[in-house]
Amino acid sequence: MNIEKVTNDSGEEPDAPSSVSRRTFVKSSLAAGAGMMLSSASKGQGQNTGAAPKVDDLNVAIIGVGTQGSTLIASCMNIEGLRFKAVCDIWDFNRNTAQRRLKVYKHDCKAYDDFKEMLAAEKDLDAVIVATPDFWHAPHAIACMKAGLHVYCEKMMSNTHEGAEAMVKAQHETGQILQIGHQRRSNPRYLQAKEELIDKAKLLGRITTINGQWNRSVSDDLGWAPKHEIIESRLNEFGFANMKEFRNWRWYKKYGGGPISDLGAHQIDIYNWFLGTPPRAVMANGGIDFYTDKEWWDTVMAIYDYETPNGMVRAFYQVLTTTRAGVGYFEYFMGTQGSLRMSENPGITRVFREATAPSWQEWERAGLMTEALKAKKGPSLSELAWWDRMRGQSVVDARATAELDAFVLSADLGDKKIHQPHLENFFAAIRDGVPLNCPVEIGYETDMTVMKVNDAIEQEKKLYFEPGEFTA
Ligand SMILES: NC(=O)c1ccc[n+]([C@@H]2O[C@H](COP(=O)([O-])OP(=O)(O)OC[C@H]3O[C@@H](n4cnc5c(N)ncnc54)[C@H](O)[C@@H]3O)[C@@H](O)[C@H]2O)c1
Repeated sequence: MNIEKVTNDSGEEPDAPSSVSRRTFVKSSLAAGAGMMLSSASKGQGQNTGAAPKVDDLNVAIIGVGTQGSTLIASCMNIEGLRFKAVCDIWDFNRNTAQRRLKVYKHDCKAYDDFKEMLAAEKDLDAVIVATPDFWHAPHAIACMKAGLHVYCEKMMSNTHEGAEAMVKAQHETGQILQIGHQRRSNPRYLQAKEELIDKAKLLGRITTINGQWNRSVSDDLGWAPKHEIIESRLNEFGFANMKEFRNWRWYKKYGGGPISDLGAHQIDIYNWFLGTPPRAVMANGGIDFYTDKEWWDTVMAIYDYETPNGMVRAFYQVLTTTRAGVGYFEYFMGTQGSLRMSENPGITRVFREATAPSWQEWERAGLMTEALKAKKGPSLSELAWWDRMRGQSVVDARATAELDAFVLSADLGDKKIHQPHLENFFAAIRDGVPLNCPVEIGYETDMTVMKVNDAIEQEKKLYFEPGEFTA
């Protein structure tokens, strides 16, 4: 069997560090430093631990260098002041590839197949990135924190309540910095949408409903070349039944939470963040409707109830793995004065206004014309005034106007890769004590919100969240 092309959650192929020229690396490192301060200053949530680095460059190790580990390494190549000292992966194919790629960038790191050996041998590490399958997150993150290291851990925090809870406790006990990899929390466009459009300008009016999805086409199992097969007894030592489950772990209940956790967690996290509260209840339906050899549901549809200070919000979310249907993935916030379609894909992100919303001039007079509303990619103020004049002439015109009244947000990633700002935020927390954008408490809240969907499908009923369920 051949090694198949692999993609990350966003459906992108992981970036190879070798695609980044030395010149680009130095240039974007400087830009990254500036951006780091900006994003950290603009965000008020999270812990502030402020540990001092042991040396000027932060010494970094990574556990798990598959699809996402490779993507994170590529993002780190654009961040100044990091020195990779070790890669750890139980699969020689991925381990050797990562080590080789890092060498290209003069990161002469050691390679390990067992994280315990790595922690015993590497005594001058500052931070570890954990990008292993979900069921390994808690053991890896906890061992690293107990060894005095800061941790960037991929989402979901864990595939079990116990694992997630143990991570929160370990973070609180050790005081190490623990960032959970919900990278949209550091994405400039998401920050702008939340802070400027929703919180400041209240452009959507009262948010009443949300619709979100991540739809994917049918895909084959991931394979492997026979010469890169790990012997089964060794796989068993690391908790995997066999090579097929090892490669396709996300589909099995033992290792992960299925598509709702793999994909949905990213977006349901945004529901909680933008509404400023976790949900009150969830009902859900799903099943293995297409695949014949998977354990997790390939089709999931959920409806959350959010009791917000402004009233009830009903939030639909679906993850389909049999059709890409439409534009793929987005979170669509709908309100009385407008709607906001967010996506990690900037081409999908849009703001729409209702024809009955206050005029742009009123917004301006009220001092609510935020930078996002004056967006460089959006319409000019004179164009906005023209649209205001068009407004209300006839039902048809008004509808057309509402459609026209759509623009994209001005903030974007520039040259940065999608995970870069979140990693920058993590390293800035270590160096300068800036608040994390996704500390363990937020990661835990999101884990609990998402896991309940699987419970609701299992139990075939609407489930309510208990008070205190979102804190470990
Ligand atoms: N934030 C995002 O956008 C995003 C995108 C993709 C994946 N992820 C997350 O990243 C994590 C990894 O996903 P992936 O797609 O890279 O999976 P993957 O299967 O491609 O890679 C996992 C790697 O971990 C290694 N591994 C497994 N158990 C190990 C152990 N005990 N010790 C050391 N190495 C071990 C495997 O050999 C493999 O190289 C998951 O938690 C996933 O949810 C996040």
